Amino acid sequence: MATTGLFISFEGIDGAGKSTHIDALAEAFRMTGRTVTLTREPGGTPLAEKLRAMVLNDAMDPLTESLLIFAGRRDHLVNIITPALARGEVVLCDRFTDATFAYQGGGRGFDLPTLQTLEQWVQGTESGAALIQPELTVWFDLSPEEAARRLAGARLPDKFEAQPVEFFRRVAQGYADRQKSAPRRFARIDASQSREAVWADVRHVFVAKGWLP
Ligand code: TYD
Repeated sequence: MATTGLFISFEGIDGAGKSTHIDALAEAFRMTGRTVTLTREPGGTPLAEKLRAMVLNDAMDPLTESLLIFAGRRDHLVNIITPALARGEVVLCDRFTDATFAYQGGGRGFDLPTLQTLEQWVQGTESGAALIQPELTVWFDLSPEEAARRLAGARLPDKFEAQPVEFFRRVAQGYADRQKSAPRRFARIDASQSREAVWADVRHVFVAKGWLP
């Protein structure tokens, strides 16, 4: 049976708590008989995972950082995401390009038109018609103060997790701006609720789209 591939991304500032819900969605889709590709960015391929380690651990200027992230994204799209969608699979991607606009654009204040150019290069299609974008982006929206409370003492922070709360205020604004530019693609979830309430909201989005029973 031919099923159409489904590309879904998950976003939010560090500490917003998306991981358990992504895993639960993968399970829910598998229960319906769909094949799920669970993946993440930066990363998702052997090459992109090497780039991830550099991006998360090494100091670099924001253009270098953006180039490495988009290079990994290209490799990930070509080798994992596009083939999985062509096979009709559900691709659940923990972060995608909105994170670059939020973290590098918002958090680090890097030039948005340059990011838009990189997005065009990396996500452009042969037909030139449209960019490859998720069909749905689930945005776990949480205040930077609450996220910091949740992250405190959790584990050894990486380069981004170690940033001050003002950084995450700019990242959160970056996500809000991205949502404004593509409101139909985004589903905003109030991540300040209990885990059960967040899951109920997430599930509701997928049921309303007719993707889960
Ligand atoms: P994250 O997805 O939170 O993984 P983990 O749960 O293992 O920490 O970590 C990825 C980090 O990379 C996160 O701090 C956001 C950052 N990031 C960017 O700065 N730009 C990007 O384009 C992406 C995809 C992630």
